[in-house]
Amino acid sequence: MEPDDGDFAVLHDEAAVIRDVFTYAHRFVGSAFVFRVTSKVVYSPHFPGFVRDLSLLHENGIKICVVPSGSERIDQLLASYGIETERVKGIRISPPEAMPIIQMAAFDTAIACINQFARHKVEALVGNWVRARAIGVRDGVDFMDTGLVENVHADLIRRSLEDGFVPVLPCIGWNAIGKPYNISSLELATRLATSLNATKLFLITEGEPFSDEGLQSPREGVVSREGYLSRISVQAAEALVTDWPELLEPGELDMLGHAVEACRGGVERVHFLDGTMDGVVLKEVFSTLGYGIMVHVDPFEHVRPMKDEDIVDVLGIMEAFVRKGILVRRSEEDMQRLRPDFVVYETDGTIRGCGALHRYGPDQAEIAGIAVDENFGRMGVGRKVVEFLLEEARRKKLSQVFLLTTKTSDWFQSLGFTQGSADDLPPERRATYDERRKSRVFVYPLADRAAGQ
Ligand SMILES: CC(C)(COP(=O)(O)OP(=O)(O)OC[C@H]1O[C@@H](n2cnc3c(N)ncnc32)[C@H](O)[C@@H]1OP(=O)(O)O)[C@@H](O)C(=O)NCCC(=O)NCCS
Repeated sequence: MEPDDGDFAVLHDEAAVIRDVFTYAHRFVGSAFVFRVTSKVVYSPHFPGFVRDLSLLHENGIKICVVPSGSERIDQLLASYGIETERVKGIRISPPEAMPIIQMAAFDTAIACINQFARHKVEALVGNWVRARAIGVRDGVDFMDTGLVENVHADLIRRSLEDGFVPVLPCIGWNAIGKPYNISSLELATRLATSLNATKLFLITEGEPFSDEGLQSPREGVVSREGYLSRISVQAAEALVTDWPELLEPGELDMLGHAVEACRGGVERVHFLDGTMDGVVLKEVFSTLGYGIMVHVDPFEHVRPMKDEDIVDVLGIMEAFVRKGILVRRSEEDMQRLRPDFVVYETDGTIRGCGALHRYGPDQAEIAGIAVDENFGRMGVGRKVVEFLLEEARRKKLSQVFLLTTKTSDWFQSLGFTQGSADDLPPERRATYDERRKSRVFVYPLADRAAGQ
């Protein structure tokens, strides 16, 4: 029995997922990932599943460090001992009499992590790896035994990682003479990630990490997908923190500020994830689309000329539309011949879209072969490819761009193309115009636009 289009689509999607997994698994072997996990997640029913996925990463050669925040557990234990502590600007003041209980809660949370790893035969360990000092008195407030991270002994932690352990770092640091301080797990995770040259820092929260709304308004470097915030460039994140802090809750501001600091310190990407969603880490690590919110340093995506090695992927993207009769079939030889005309849209090293600009005579060019991987539809990829090609035509000082389409008229009109006729085509293109396809002609007069601007 011949496979139908439904079978093709399912296979196409499943193969795309598997391809993503292989690509990323290969890329991250030997990389260090730091996970800062709130104690709410550690003591939630979702934590065993979460650690199962971290154990899988560990077994597959990714170096894992965990920094559990002790906050909620500390609150709980202090309350049970009848001790109240105060917070100033989100920072707990740690009186000396509370320190034994704070330490107990911090280590409790770390041991809860170690216990879960043990279920997967992964050896996790706690060490004396963090040098701290007192915050001291700030704006007239004495923070007592609350400290700042002075130094993380990255060489010792690296050695544990090389020996196959998962280091777990509770939110306690010691000064030179062994006095313990209560430190921020967010600060610790950030310093750990930068000192280890980690590839990724994950900030795992219980529930959505951001209330979204403030961040949603369109601005350069902020990308949303299906109504949810998806990616922020480090520049955009920095601008949010410094120029629009009022858009964020204090906790969100703190997390985003640390994400910027981590990226500026050499971490490639910081991921904010809801730790209660099953499989969220695997989905984030092994797929281009991910699941949470990511702050990134490198240009995550761009349009570039097509190379020979892209042709198989480009034909794969086109195939879905060829089957629907939207695009004409092109062979590998056609694509090799037309390669100089084609550009591709690359997202995180993977091809997600394509398009071509075929030159006709001194003044005209045809836009053709526009296609976007269906899993990446409605994210502006098609528009960016067309805009890139129009810019290319402008650069070549052409006066008009045209295209032929059977089913995508509305979309091209929304991009500023207007309907023309076969008379607008250059003679050599008119000669190959297929009357049976009844394609519509659309034009984009570059000369007029440039003059009118
Ligand atoms: C048409 C195509 C290139 C759009 O790519 P894309 O990356 O999803 O497009 P964008 O994200 O830039 O734009 C998405 C918007 O266009 C709309 N759109 C997508 N395809 C459309 C179509 N055929 N007709 C009208 N509108 C369309 C979407 O609904 C969306 O609208 P919204 O922003 O209001 O939600 C893509 O769907 C595709 O590859 N189609 C098949 C090939 C094709 O038609 N090529 C053109 C002939 S050369």
